[in-house]
Amino acid sequence: VAKAVVTGSGSGMGAATTARLRTAGWDVLGVDLRGAEVTADLATAEGRAGAVGAALDWCGGALDAAVACAGVGGFGTRPGSAVVAINYFGTVDVLDKLRPALAASSTGAGRALAIASNSSTVQPGLARDLVEACLAGDEPTALGLADDAGAITAYGTSKLALGRWVRRSSHTDAWAGSGIRLNAVSPGMVETPMIDEGRADPELKPLLDALPIPLGAAQPDEVAALIFALLGDAGRAMAGSVILVDGGTEALVRADDWPTPLS
Ligand SMILES: NC(=O)c1ccc[n+]([C@@H]2O[C@H](COP(=O)([O-])OP(=O)(O)OC[C@H]3O[C@@H](n4cnc5c(N)ncnc54)[C@H](O)[C@@H]3O)[C@@H](O)[C@H]2O)c1
Repeated sequence: VAKAVVTGSGSGMGAATTARLRTAGWDVLGVDLRGAEVTADLATAEGRAGAVGAALDWCGGALDAAVACAGVGGFGTRPGSAVVAINYFGTVDVLDKLRPALAASSTGAGRALAIASNSSTVQPGLARDLVEACLAGDEPTALGLADDAGAITAYGTSKLALGRWVRRSSHTDAWAGSGIRLNAVSPGMVETPMIDEGRADPELKPLLDALPIPLGAAQPDEVAALIFALLGDAGRAMAGSVILVDGGTEALVRADDWPTPLS
Protein backbone atom coordinates (compact mmCIF):
# COMPACT_ATOMS: atom_id res chain seq x y z
CA VAL A 1 0.00 0.00 0.00
CA ALA A 2 1.34 3.41 -0.98
CA LYS A 3 2.00 5.78 1.92
CA ALA A 4 1.64 9.55 2.02
CA VAL A 5 2.11 12.22 4.65
CA VAL A 6 -0.23 15.20 4.20
CA THR A 7 0.23 18.35 6.27
CA GLY A 8 -2.77 20.60 6.81
CA SER A 9 -4.95 17.49 6.52
CA GLY A 10 -7.56 18.88 8.90
CA SER A 11 -9.14 21.37 6.49
CA GLY A 12 -9.48 22.64 2.95
CA MET A 13 -7.16 21.28 0.26
CA GLY A 14 -5.24 19.07 2.71
CA ALA A 15 -8.47 17.42 3.87
CA ALA A 16 -9.66 16.99 0.26
CA THR A 17 -6.31 15.50 -0.76
CA THR A 18 -6.34 13.10 2.20
CA ALA A 19 -9.85 11.94 1.31
CA ARG A 20 -8.96 11.52 -2.34
CA LEU A 21 -5.87 9.43 -1.56
CA ARG A 22 -7.70 7.25 0.97
CA THR A 23 -10.50 6.57 -1.52
CA ALA A 24 -7.83 5.33 -3.93
CA GLY A 25 -6.43 2.98 -1.28
CA TRP A 26 -3.46 5.03 -0.06
CA ASP A 27 -2.43 4.94 3.57
CA VAL A 28 -2.29 8.58 4.72
CA LEU A 29 -0.80 10.10 7.86
CA GLY A 30 -2.28 13.55 8.41
CA VAL A 31 -0.46 16.29 10.32
CA ASP A 32 -2.24 19.39 11.58
CA LEU A 33 -2.85 21.61 14.59
CA ARG A 34 -6.04 19.63 15.18
CA GLY A 35 -8.17 16.92 13.62
CA ALA A 36 -5.25 14.82 12.33
CA GLU A 37 -3.38 11.64 13.24
CA VAL A 38 -0.38 13.74 14.28
CA THR A 39 -0.99 16.98 16.18
CA ALA A 40 1.88 19.41 15.61
CA ASP A 41 2.52 23.11 15.18
CA LEU A 42 4.67 23.23 12.08
CA ALA A 43 5.38 26.92 12.63
CA THR A 44 7.89 25.88 15.30
CA ALA A 45 11.13 23.89 15.04
CA GLU A 46 9.93 21.56 17.83
CA GLY A 47 6.61 20.95 16.10
CA ARG A 48 8.34 20.17 12.80
CA ALA A 49 10.80 17.78 14.46
CA GLY A 50 8.01 16.01 16.34
CA ALA A 51 5.87 15.62 13.24
CA VAL A 52 8.75 14.35 11.12
CA GLY A 53 9.77 11.90 13.85
CA ALA A 54 6.21 10.55 14.05
CA ALA A 55 6.01 10.31 10.26
CA LEU A 56 9.31 8.43 9.96
CA ASP A 57 8.23 5.97 12.68
CA TRP A 58 4.90 5.47 10.91
CA CYS A 59 6.39 4.79 7.46
CA GLY A 60 9.42 2.84 8.69
CA GLY A 61 11.77 5.19 6.83
CA ALA A 62 10.29 4.63 3.35
CA LEU A 63 7.65 7.08 2.14
CA ASP A 64 5.96 7.36 -1.26
CA ALA A 65 4.61 10.91 -1.10
CA ALA A 66 4.59 14.06 0.99
CA VAL A 67 2.04 16.79 0.30
CA ALA A 68 2.58 20.00 2.27
CA CYS A 69 -0.73 21.86 2.47
CA ALA A 70 -0.47 23.43 5.94
CA GLY A 71 -0.53 27.20 5.73
CA VAL A 72 -2.27 30.36 6.86
CA GLY A 73 -3.62 33.42 5.07
CA GLY A 74 -2.10 36.87 5.43
CA PHE A 75 -5.11 38.27 7.23
CA GLY A 76 -6.19 40.54 10.03
CA THR A 77 -3.96 41.03 13.03
CA ARG A 78 -1.74 37.99 12.31
CA PRO A 79 1.91 39.11 12.34
CA GLY A 80 3.88 38.56 9.16
CA SER A 81 6.25 36.23 11.02
CA ALA A 82 3.37 33.84 11.78
CA VAL A 83 2.66 33.62 8.03
CA VAL A 84 6.26 32.93 6.97
CA ALA A 85 6.94 30.50 9.84
CA ILE A 86 4.33 28.06 8.56
CA ASN A 87 3.96 28.88 4.85
CA TYR A 88 7.68 28.80 4.07
CA PHE A 89 9.71 27.23 6.88
CA GLY A 90 6.95 24.84 8.00
CA THR A 91 6.80 23.55 4.42
CA VAL A 92 10.44 23.49 3.35
CA ASP A 93 11.80 22.11 6.62
CA VAL A 94 9.27 19.26 6.73
CA LEU A 95 9.80 18.31 3.07
CA ASP A 96 13.58 18.46 3.54
CA LYS A 97 13.48 16.23 6.60
CA LEU A 98 11.18 13.73 4.87
CA ARG A 99 13.44 13.69 1.80
CA PRO A 100 15.57 10.68 2.84
CA ALA A 101 12.38 8.64 3.38
CA LEU A 102 11.06 9.75 -0.03
CA ALA A 103 14.37 8.67 -1.57
CA ALA A 104 13.80 5.25 0.04
CA SER A 105 10.31 4.79 -1.48
CA SER A 106 9.99 1.20 -2.65
CA THR A 107 8.57 2.57 -5.93
CA GLY A 108 11.89 4.34 -6.59
CA ALA A 109 9.82 7.45 -7.21
CA GLY A 110 9.23 9.58 -4.13
CA ARG A 111 6.85 12.44 -4.69
CA ALA A 112 6.88 15.81 -2.91
CA LEU A 113 4.38 18.58 -3.48
CA ALA A 114 4.13 22.05 -1.97
CA ILE A 115 1.19 24.43 -2.23
CA ALA A 116 2.33 27.83 -3.46
CA SER A 117 -0.15 30.53 -4.58
CA ASN A 118 -0.71 32.83 -7.52
CA SER A 119 -0.29 35.67 -5.02
CA SER A 120 3.41 35.03 -5.64
CA THR A 121 2.98 36.25 -9.22
CA VAL A 122 -0.04 38.56 -9.24
CA GLN A 123 0.32 40.42 -5.93
CA PRO A 124 2.26 43.69 -6.21
CA GLY A 125 4.95 44.86 -3.78
CA LEU A 126 6.42 41.59 -2.55
CA ALA A 127 9.50 41.83 -0.30
CA ARG A 128 12.56 40.65 -2.19
CA ASP A 129 14.84 40.79 0.87
CA LEU A 130 12.41 38.44 2.62
CA VAL A 131 12.58 36.01 -0.31
CA GLU A 132 16.37 35.98 -0.04
CA ALA A 133 16.33 35.43 3.75
CA CYS A 134 13.92 32.50 3.30
CA LEU A 135 16.01 30.90 0.57
CA ALA A 136 19.15 31.38 2.70
CA GLY A 137 17.40 29.38 5.42
CA ASP A 138 17.84 32.30 7.83
CA GLU A 139 14.59 31.98 9.78
CA PRO A 140 15.27 34.63 12.47
CA THR A 141 16.06 37.30 9.85
CA ALA A 142 13.13 36.21 7.67
CA LEU A 143 10.66 36.40 10.56
CA GLY A 144 11.87 39.90 11.46
CA LEU A 145 11.52 41.09 7.84
CA ALA A 146 8.08 39.46 7.65
CA ASP A 147 6.90 41.39 10.71
CA ASP A 148 8.17 44.61 9.10
CA ALA A 149 6.37 43.76 5.85
CA GLY A 150 3.05 42.82 7.49
CA ALA A 151 0.87 39.77 6.93
CA ILE A 152 -0.51 40.60 3.48
CA THR A 153 2.90 41.16 1.89
CA ALA A 154 4.41 38.29 3.90
CA TYR A 155 1.82 35.93 2.42
CA GLY A 156 2.61 36.45 -1.28
CA THR A 157 6.30 36.68 -0.45
CA SER A 158 6.28 33.37 1.47
CA LYS A 159 4.72 31.70 -1.56
CA LEU A 160 7.21 33.31 -3.98
CA ALA A 161 10.08 31.99 -1.84
CA LEU A 162 8.43 28.57 -1.74
CA GLY A 163 8.04 28.43 -5.52
CA ARG A 164 11.69 29.49 -5.92
CA TRP A 165 12.82 26.84 -3.42
CA VAL A 166 10.96 24.18 -5.39
CA ARG A 167 12.52 25.36 -8.66
CA ARG A 168 16.04 25.55 -7.19
CA SER A 169 15.86 22.21 -5.36
CA SER A 170 13.87 20.00 -7.70
CA HIS A 171 16.58 19.29 -10.28
CA THR A 172 19.41 18.60 -7.82
CA ASP A 173 21.00 15.29 -6.84
CA ALA A 174 19.14 15.39 -3.54
CA TRP A 175 15.73 15.46 -5.26
CA ALA A 176 15.48 14.45 -8.96
CA GLY A 177 18.86 12.71 -8.61
CA SER A 178 17.32 10.56 -5.88
CA GLY A 179 14.27 9.82 -8.02
CA ILE A 180 12.05 12.29 -6.13
CA ARG A 181 9.63 14.48 -8.08
CA LEU A 182 9.44 17.85 -6.32
CA ASN A 183 6.80 20.23 -7.68
CA ALA A 184 4.33 22.87 -6.54
CA VAL A 185 0.70 23.59 -7.20
CA SER A 186 -0.06 27.32 -7.35
CA PRO A 187 -3.75 27.94 -6.70
CA GLY A 188 -5.64 31.17 -7.04
CA MET A 189 -8.80 31.50 -5.00
CA VAL A 190 -10.05 28.17 -3.63
CA GLU A 191 -13.25 28.00 -1.57
CA THR A 192 -11.84 26.82 1.75
CA PRO A 193 -12.11 28.06 5.35
CA MET A 194 -8.99 30.17 4.65
CA ILE A 195 -10.89 32.28 2.15
CA ASP A 196 -13.85 32.51 4.54
CA GLU A 197 -11.40 33.95 7.09
CA GLY A 198 -10.20 36.46 4.47
CA ARG A 199 -13.75 37.54 3.65
CA ALA A 200 -14.36 38.20 7.35
CA ASP A 201 -11.58 40.84 7.25
CA PRO A 202 -13.24 44.13 6.23
CA GLU A 203 -10.02 45.42 4.65
CA LEU A 204 -9.52 42.29 2.54
CA LYS A 205 -13.09 41.40 1.57
CA PRO A 206 -13.36 44.07 -1.17
CA LEU A 207 -9.96 43.01 -2.57
CA LEU A 208 -10.95 39.34 -2.65
CA ASP A 209 -14.32 40.18 -4.19
CA ALA A 210 -12.64 42.33 -6.85
CA LEU A 211 -10.09 39.69 -7.89
CA PRO A 212 -10.75 38.88 -11.57
CA ILE A 213 -11.12 35.10 -12.02
CA PRO A 214 -12.23 34.20 -15.57
CA LEU A 215 -13.28 30.64 -14.61
CA GLY A 216 -14.34 31.53 -11.07
CA ALA A 217 -12.89 30.23 -7.80
CA ALA A 218 -11.81 26.58 -7.52
CA GLN A 219 -13.20 23.97 -5.13
CA PRO A 220 -10.80 22.07 -2.84
CA ASP A 221 -11.81 18.77 -4.48
CA GLU A 222 -10.66 20.10 -7.86
CA VAL A 223 -7.21 20.96 -6.53
CA ALA A 224 -7.08 17.56 -4.80
CA ALA A 225 -7.84 15.90 -8.15
CA LEU A 226 -4.85 17.72 -9.69
CA ILE A 227 -2.61 16.75 -6.77
CA PHE A 228 -3.76 13.14 -7.07
CA ALA A 229 -2.93 13.10 -10.78
CA LEU A 230 0.53 14.57 -10.11
CA LEU A 231 1.24 11.83 -7.56
CA GLY A 232 0.41 9.28 -10.27
CA ASP A 233 1.68 8.62 -13.78
CA ALA A 234 0.90 12.18 -14.93
CA GLY A 235 3.73 13.45 -12.75
CA ARG A 236 6.34 10.85 -13.75
CA ALA A 237 8.54 13.30 -15.67
CA MET A 238 7.73 16.47 -13.75
CA ALA A 239 10.27 18.28 -11.59
CA GLY A 240 10.32 21.94 -10.64
CA SER A 241 6.91 22.66 -12.14
CA VAL A 242 4.85 25.34 -10.42
CA ILE A 243 1.41 24.57 -11.75
CA LEU A 244 -1.16 27.34 -11.81
CA VAL A 245 -4.72 26.41 -10.99
CA ASP A 246 -6.12 29.91 -10.66
CA GLY A 247 -9.11 30.16 -12.96
CA GLY A 248 -7.10 32.22 -15.45
CA THR A 249 -6.24 35.18 -13.20
CA GLU A 250 -2.51 35.22 -13.92
CA ALA A 251 -3.03 34.81 -17.65
CA LEU A 252 -5.45 37.74 -17.53
CA VAL A 253 -3.07 39.99 -15.59
CA ARG A 254 0.22 39.08 -17.27
CA ALA A 255 -0.41 37.05 -20.40
CA ASP A 256 2.93 37.76 -22.08
CA ASP A 257 5.26 37.36 -19.10
CA TRP A 258 5.36 33.59 -19.46
CA PRO A 259 6.72 31.63 -21.29
CA THR A 260 9.86 33.72 -20.87
CA PRO A 261 12.49 33.18 -23.57
CA LEU A 262 16.09 32.49 -22.59
CA SER A 263 17.97 35.71 -23.32
N1 LIG B 1 -7.73 28.86 -0.25
C1 LIG B 1 -7.08 29.56 -1.15
O1 LIG B 1 -7.66 30.37 -1.87
C2 LIG B 1 -5.60 29.34 -1.36
C3 LIG B 1 -5.00 29.88 -2.50
C4 LIG B 1 -3.66 29.67 -2.75
C5 LIG B 1 -2.91 28.91 -1.87
N2 LIG B 1 -3.50 28.40 -0.75
C6 LIG B 1 -2.67 27.60 0.13
O2 LIG B 1 -3.17 26.29 0.20
C7 LIG B 1 -2.78 25.68 1.42
C8 LIG B 1 -4.02 25.06 2.07
O3 LIG B 1 -4.91 26.11 2.41
P1 LIG B 1 -6.50 25.92 2.51
O4 LIG B 1 -7.08 26.97 1.66
O5 LIG B 1 -6.86 24.51 2.31
O6 LIG B 1 -6.70 26.43 4.02
P2 LIG B 1 -7.37 25.79 5.29
O7 LIG B 1 -7.32 26.87 6.33
O8 LIG B 1 -8.70 25.19 4.97
O9 LIG B 1 -6.37 24.61 5.68
C9 LIG B 1 -5.07 24.86 6.15
C10 LIG B 1 -4.73 23.84 7.21
O10 LIG B 1 -3.39 24.09 7.65
C11 LIG B 1 -3.35 23.93 9.04
N3 LIG B 1 -2.28 24.70 9.66
C12 LIG B 1 -2.18 26.05 9.71
N4 LIG B 1 -1.11 26.41 10.44
C13 LIG B 1 -0.53 25.25 10.86
C14 LIG B 1 0.59 24.98 11.69
N5 LIG B 1 1.31 25.97 12.26
N6 LIG B 1 0.92 23.68 11.92
C15 LIG B 1 0.17 22.67 11.40
N7 LIG B 1 -0.93 22.89 10.61
C16 LIG B 1 -1.27 24.17 10.36
C17 LIG B 1 -4.70 24.46 9.52
O11 LIG B 1 -5.01 23.99 10.85
C18 LIG B 1 -5.64 23.94 8.45
O12 LIG B 1 -6.19 22.68 8.80
C19 LIG B 1 -2.14 26.80 2.24
O13 LIG B 1 -0.74 26.69 2.15
C20 LIG B 1 -2.60 28.06 1.55
O14 LIG B 1 -1.70 29.13 1.73
C21 LIG B 1 -4.82 28.60 -0.47
